[in-house]
Amino acid sequence: MCTTARSLQMDLFKWIFGLLIVLVIYTCLYLTYCGKHEMMGSEMTDRFKLLNCMKLHQKFSNITSANSIDMMNVIGNLSAFMSCLHVTNRTQKELHRLRLRFCCNGTDLLYLTKKNTAVNQSIAYETSNRVYKVGAALHKMLPEDFPWSRRGHLGRCAVVGNGGILKNSSCGREIDSADFIIRFNLAPINDSDVGVKTDLVTINPSQLSADYRNMAENPDPLVRRVSVYGNASLMIPAFAYTHCTAVSVKTLQVLQPIRPQQPVVFFSPYYLKTLDCFWKGLGLKEKRLSTGFMLVNMALELCDDVHLYGFWPFDISLKQQTLQHHYYDNKPPKPFMHAMPEEFVRLLQLHSQGALTLHLQPCL
Ligand SMILES: *[C@@H]1O[C@H](CO)[C@@H](O)[C@H](O)[C@H]1NC(C)=O
Ligand SMILES: *[C@@H]1O[C@H](CO)[C@@H](O)[C@H](O)[C@H]1NC(C)=O
Ligand SMILES: *[C@@H]1O[C@H](CO)[C@@H](O)[C@H](O)[C@H]1NC(C)=O
Ligand SMILES: *[C@@H]1O[C@H](CO)[C@@H](O)[C@H](O)[C@H]1NC(C)=O
Ligand SMILES: *[C@@H]1O[C@H](CO)[C@@H](O)[C@H](O)[C@H]1NC(C)=O
Ligand SMILES: *[C@@H]1O[C@H](CO)[C@@H](O)[C@H](O)[C@H]1NC(C)=O
Ligand SMILES: *[C@@H]1O[C@H](CO)[C@@H](O)[C@H](O)[C@H]1NC(C)=O
Ligand SMILES: *[C@@H]1O[C@H](CO)[C@@H](O)[C@H](O)[C@H]1NC(C)=O
Repeated sequence: MCTTARSLQMDLFKWIFGLLIVLVIYTCLYLTYCGKHEMMGSEMTDRFKLLNCMKLHQKFSNITSANSIDMMNVIGNLSAFMSCLHVTNRTQKELHRLRLRFCCNGTDLLYLTKKNTAVNQSIAYETSNRVYKVGAALHKMLPEDFPWSRRGHLGRCAVVGNGGILKNSSCGREIDSADFIIRFNLAPINDSDVGVKTDLVTINPSQLSADYRNMAENPDPLVRRVSVYGNASLMIPAFAYTHCTAVSVKTLQVLQPIRPQQPVVFFSPYYLKTLDCFWKGLGLKEKRLSTGFMLVNMALELCDDVHLYGFWPFDISLKQQTLQHHYYDNKPPKPFMHAMPEEFVRLLQLHSQGALTLHLQPCL
């Protein structure tokens, strides 16, 4: 009888103790998650910001078509999103690296080399069924192999688009601190907004036809233009269209003896074809991928960290200021060729997933 009373007492004690613990935990949880009025003001705005960032993250992770949103209307949201803490996600980076490696293999096929192209090999053009036979003379001028075959990954890469958003950005120092820097269409680099170092720069064959038609007779202007980039490789889509080939091969013939330290290389049309298929398979609607987008994909495969600058296809900034088309001029792009906003939402999605980092604000 006595033992029963005592065990009853013990039970009661356990009950009350348990109840007390539950109450304490509940109060703690309540104070943490619900008791906003009990919080300091700044703590509350921090928490509110975090919640907002999570919402924005959800929103921008999901967008896959520029048609489904009015980009101009989401600029406010995007501006808020760009102020949120951005962390890259190792899993996502490896996932994208593997997917791109298996579909397109930029690591071994980005441009034509002696290793990936045989003498007399017929290569198919990127945009047609025409073929080009790589004769012994051209083959002899191809680079032996990729510089990264020896280096492994390229480290931190800066891919510098030509968007007007870079003007007055002061991003030059940050860009120059990257391990590998990619630029496009021989864009000027005499500018504190974009930096001065370059490892790879693309040339549009139409630039060569328009500005350096006489390069064989007078190579000086072209040599002066490309010397600005030091020893950076010059990459040309020589086999995109049949009319690109002659001028590209001529450029290689002219520059190789004068600047042997600066390789002229040709995009592999096979790589670009498979990359095009890959993105069309993911619903990207576009006639041809932009060179910028192509090399972002190359960077996702080859770099440890990918940072994008100057990728912003709209004519107002996040602060609603009017922007020029390029950071160096205001010439409008050719219509109907690229669907830059469509590409941009894909880049935004990759940013949200933590696969790369988009820079859309001035650098500090
Ligand atoms: C994002 O997409 C997922 C799955 O497609 C869906 O469940 C979710 O509701 C979407 N979120 C937003 C914010 O649209
Ligand atoms: C996005 O912008 C709209 C309109 O400017 C605003 O009402 C909404 O709260 C914003 N969403 C987030 C998550 O900030
Ligand atoms: C990183 O991405 C993976 C795959 O989508 C996801 O499961 C994981 O939760 C992410 N990690 C972080 C820290 O967000
Ligand atoms: C990429 O191409 C190279 C050379 O053709 C080949 O050796 C390698 O196995 C390929 N890698 C993948 C993942 O397909
Ligand atoms: C390439 O083709 C030419 C003529 O078409 C031929 O003379 C040459 O032997 C071939 N070279 C190789 C390596 O097959
Ligand atoms: C850049 O800065 C200059 C001088 O401060 C100013 O005149 C110009 O309007 C600015 N341009 C842009 C696009 O903000
Ligand atoms: C920068 O380079 C561009 C083209 O290369 C040239 O037109 C411009 O005058 C240069 N600006 C300065 C300040 O040197
Ligand atoms: C460019 O290449 C030349 C010759 O190989 C070399 O002497 C020079 O140091 C290189 N310049 C840079 C900036 O790497």
